[in-house]
Amino acid sequence: MSNKLKFGLLGALGYIAPRHIQAINNINAELICVSDLDFNLAQQKEFHSKNVETFNSLEEMIKYHQQHSLDYISICTPNHLHTEQIITCLENNINVICEKPLALSIKDLDKIRKSELGSSASIFTIMQLRFHESIIQLKEKITSQSLEEKNEVILIYATTRGSEFFSSWRGSENTSGGILFEFGIHYLDILMDIFGQVINFNVNKLSLNQANVLIEHENAKVLIMINVLSKEKLEEMGQEEVLYRSFTINGEEFEFTGGFQDLHTRSYESILEGKGFTVEDASKSITQISKIMDEFEKGSTYKPILNNL
Ligand SMILES: NC(=O)c1ccc[n+]([C@@H]2O[C@H](COP(=O)([O-])OP(=O)(O)OC[C@H]3O[C@@H](n4cnc5c(N)ncnc54)[C@H](O)[C@@H]3O)[C@@H](O)[C@H]2O)c1
Repeated sequence: MSNKLKFGLLGALGYIAPRHIQAINNINAELICVSDLDFNLAQQKEFHSKNVETFNSLEEMIKYHQQHSLDYISICTPNHLHTEQIITCLENNINVICEKPLALSIKDLDKIRKSELGSSASIFTIMQLRFHESIIQLKEKITSQSLEEKNEVILIYATTRGSEFFSSWRGSENTSGGILFEFGIHYLDILMDIFGQVINFNVNKLSLNQANVLIEHENAKVLIMINVLSKEKLEEMGQEEVLYRSFTINGEEFEFTGGFQDLHTRSYESILEGKGFTVEDASKSITQISKIMDEFEKGSTYKPILNNL
């Protein structure tokens, strides 16, 4: 019998699942079962040809686990399903690697925390930007500098999505959590990791396809601009799709659009090395996003401290 770690994967037919399947292969573990809502015959055949069982629910996968002892379940389902699915896995003492965001509220994150305490299993999340070479270099540069004034930072993330993006679960705040949970979470996480805790913030714009937020960290004043551009509108205008990620720090630009290929594998490796990102790691960005969204709902208030940005 193989002594490889055994994995199950939820949301196996989605966009991000192949990165997880590749990571499971790359760490020399074994994917033994997958679940999604509805496999067609060809998809079933494809998985079965690799000795991977297919299921239509987590409950079926848990029953399979009772005979085949899964070590981990990787969760790649829509954001609003994560909390409940994580808790079910933890209740069955199966370790979990869940895509971001672990939860869409502080309350749900607390439920996960409690569930982990009562389980012999652990929960880890994917925060792959922390492994991006340009971000690592940037952090080294910033943390080694002596600071007289706060860094002035502009973070731009622009991407393109077709209408199917907005008509799917991502197009509703109830299911995706909104643009900050969907996209901003990666950037909030690395900004706090590099520039320290958030002291103050001001939300200028927050919609499903645009976020424009000023944030004051311990070591920086940051303007975050996230834009999800419509593929159809760009086509109408004869424009190419846009994908762009950059930091401008005190006038100097660091572009990091590429370099994402192996970051899921790196994330899995770090979990096996005992250095995976935990609920506590995830809670910083989730808590901050929840605060920003609450503030925006109340009606954004002017914060003079950011006046000079
Ligand atoms: N780390 C990253 O950079 C990154 C990038 C993209 C997506 N994500 C995250 O990955 C997750 C999945 O995103 P995606 O883009 O692959 O979405 P997707 O819609 O392409 O895939 C989700 C899959 O889950 C399936 N599904 C829905 N309900 C299910 C259930 N109850 N049980 C099993 N399967 C179910 C859907 O049928 C679909 O195949 C999201 O949480 C998203 O935020 C992370």
